[in-house]
Amino acid sequence: MSATAYLICWGRSKDSQLSLDPYANLWLTKEGRDFSEKFTDFVSPLTPYLFSLRSHYIVSLLKQFEQEYTDPVIVNVGSGVTSYPFLLNENTTVINIDQPHVLEFYKEKVSELVLQNKLPQRNIVYEPIDLNSHEAVESISQIVKKQKRPAFVIFEGILTYLHKDIALKLVSSCASSCEKSSRLMVHVGLDYFCETDVWQKIENFFLENLGLSIPKLTLFSEKELISIPSIKLVEHIGFKDMDKRFGKNIDIPDEDLIDERFFLFEKE
Ligand SMILES: C[S@@+](CC[C@H](N)C(=O)[O-])C[C@H]1O[C@@H](n2cnc3c(N)ncnc32)[C@H](O)[C@@H]1O
Repeated sequence: MSATAYLICWGRSKDSQLSLDPYANLWLTKEGRDFSEKFTDFVSPLTPYLFSLRSHYIVSLLKQFEQEYTDPVIVNVGSGVTSYPFLLNENTTVINIDQPHVLEFYKEKVSELVLQNKLPQRNIVYEPIDLNSHEAVESISQIVKKQKRPAFVIFEGILTYLHKDIALKLVSSCASSCEKSSRLMVHVGLDYFCETDVWQKIENFFLENLGLSIPKLTLFSEKELISIPSIKLVEHIGFKDMDKRFGKNIDIPDEDLIDERFFLFEKE
């Protein structure tokens, strides 16, 4: 499991009222917690707040979507250890797409936690796919097409790790294959992301604490996202807007802002 997946999960678990995720702590390991605490000390004390805002935003969109349909389907691309299936109604289907070992870990954990009555039973479909491949583009397109009803597709914390051409093809083939009124939540870093102060601190953290240099991130321009055919932009927001809209209105200082961006699209 990637350290960043645990970091996001830990962030969500620190303020479950805001993150709307009372289950986030269930996925954590001791190593995941230790890593996250060190990261937060080094990079910014606001890390858990930002990840809780991110969760609140996405969970609210999913809840709104499932109220509009009798047989809702969510496709989570690069699903990691997200609690979304358990935060939604039992008639909602969630398709989790990730690397085989991540889905195996998640599946086993879910069986164990459902048996212990710590998680409710939910309808989860597992699709192990290497998303960094051209074959993935066709696979995702087929998965979305097969649903034959509007789907909510989440690209959260994944596109940054993929080759740019594949990342854009994944989103655009999904956009062209999904039913009208489907929604796509595309979470990215924009072109300037690696020039921000926070990013410098994140790079230093990995280098100084783990001796690792982070592979180059895949970043996007607003223009290349909003020009994807057949979907229209509903909104484009970031953490500062979320802080004001449903957060604690703390006016996040620039030096603490991990400037992730969220593009919500709807299929026309
Ligand atoms: C930063 S985590 C984000 C997880 C989740 N979407 C979230 O926001 O909490 C990135 C996820 O993408 C998955 N991932 C990265 N590269 C992948 C690939 N080539 N194929 C499939 N999944 C991949 C990782 O296994 C991990 O679960």
